[in-house]
Amino acid sequence: MAQDDLPSVFELTPLNPNFNQNPHALLDKLRDKCPVHRDEVAGTFVLTRYADVRGTLSDTTMWRDPARAEEAAILPRRLLDPPPPGLEVHEGSDSSILLSDDPDHARIRNPLQMALYKRVAKCRPLVAKVVDEMLDRFAGKAQFDVMDEFAVPVPIDVIARILGVDDKMLVEFRDWSEGVILSLNPFRTPEQTQKFITSANALNAYFHELMMERRKNPKDDLISDMMVLQAEGAPLTDGELQNNLQGLLVGGNLTTTDLIGNGIWLFLTNAAELAKLKADPGLINSAVEEILRYESPVDITGRIASRDMEVGGCPIKQTQSLFMSLRGANRDPETFPNPHKFDIARKDAPHVAFGGGAHLCIGSPLARLEAQVALPAFFARFPNLRLADPDALPEWRSLPFFRGLQRLDVRT
Ligand code: HEM
Repeated sequence: MAQDDLPSVFELTPLNPNFNQNPHALLDKLRDKCPVHRDEVAGTFVLTRYADVRGTLSDTTMWRDPARAEEAAILPRRLLDPPPPGLEVHEGSDSSILLSDDPDHARIRNPLQMALYKRVAKCRPLVAKVVDEMLDRFAGKAQFDVMDEFAVPVPIDVIARILGVDDKMLVEFRDWSEGVILSLNPFRTPEQTQKFITSANALNAYFHELMMERRKNPKDDLISDMMVLQAEGAPLTDGELQNNLQGLLVGGNLTTTDLIGNGIWLFLTNAAELAKLKADPGLINSAVEEILRYESPVDITGRIASRDMEVGGCPIKQTQSLFMSLRGANRDPETFPNPHKFDIARKDAPHVAFGGGAHLCIGSPLARLEAQVALPAFFARFPNLRLADPDALPEWRSLPFFRGLQRLDVRT
């Protein structure tokens, strides 16, 4: 089904200036012309139709482990590159649930998910406290960058409190958390690689220390919960836990930052929707779902075919790679009427911003809660907020496969 005038995966990243400013021109074209598109250069299929994306995500027999992908699948196979020199390799450091299949995936994910969901279910007051403290810090400013002052620090501080990071370590923890996210950037500078290595090693050592401490003296936090589950027989090692705790920071911080940042930007550029929310605060949950659908923080996720199969009428062979365009699926007119309209009261809008199936985002309840608390609190604190320069184009970050703002300057 390949067609020469269709974009490759590389053009479907914000490194392409056209995609960066308007990803949907390319995604709509791809969905119309070739919804199951074989990109021979990247060695992967790209899926843009909602039905195909939802179907392959829900198929729990699909693989995720990049080692199972054919050689031609250069992007998943890059994940198998040796770690950069200086990054400490330890027992369990290759156990990320994002890149593993059953039985290891379920063995590690199940206890972590159980503990995390239980914590999130009771952490609304904690999120509200973090948000209020953050708002207090810059309340008097006439102009500020929403990303820097609010959207970046809120998720880091929330996860720190959930994990049980000591107050005296918060400054370092924030710095390391920003450092490990650099692992997502394939085009980082040598200085950024160094920062990533230093941060990952420091976090690993700190998590190890915290686990030893909580094993002896449990407290009211996620790391203590995990120590209890381990003692009761949850079959995951310390190294696997350390590695996957770091995965929560890599997978969760920037994405939640972008959910909050994209949400604030959408409301500032859609005054009628903000007025709707203010008139009916009960719309906040559907507003957050619409932000996730309309401006999804993650562009794509991937799977590897575990057997010869057919997707959307297109034959796919075992070990071939599939990229599901979550952004493309979330604007498919077959599923979402008038898909390019931002409508916070939209009904029945089952977006795929968190992926699906066995790898459905483990942090989705937390991300939703943070946005549901942060957005109303933010707009209540700044009732007359406006963009600092309403004529300027939004400054989208150029990190491949993620969508969020580099900065968002506003006036109070
Ligand atoms: C708006 C915020 C977020 C978005 C849009 C998002 C999106 C995603 C997506 C698309 C996946 C891949 C799912 C798939 O392949 O089917 C994923 C997986 C994952 N996310 Fe999130 N995420 C967010 C927040 C979080 C948070 C807050 C955490 C941690 C606290 C987190 C941790 C993870 C982890 C560990 C995985 C791997 C799960 C697995 O493979 O079993 N994410 N996320």
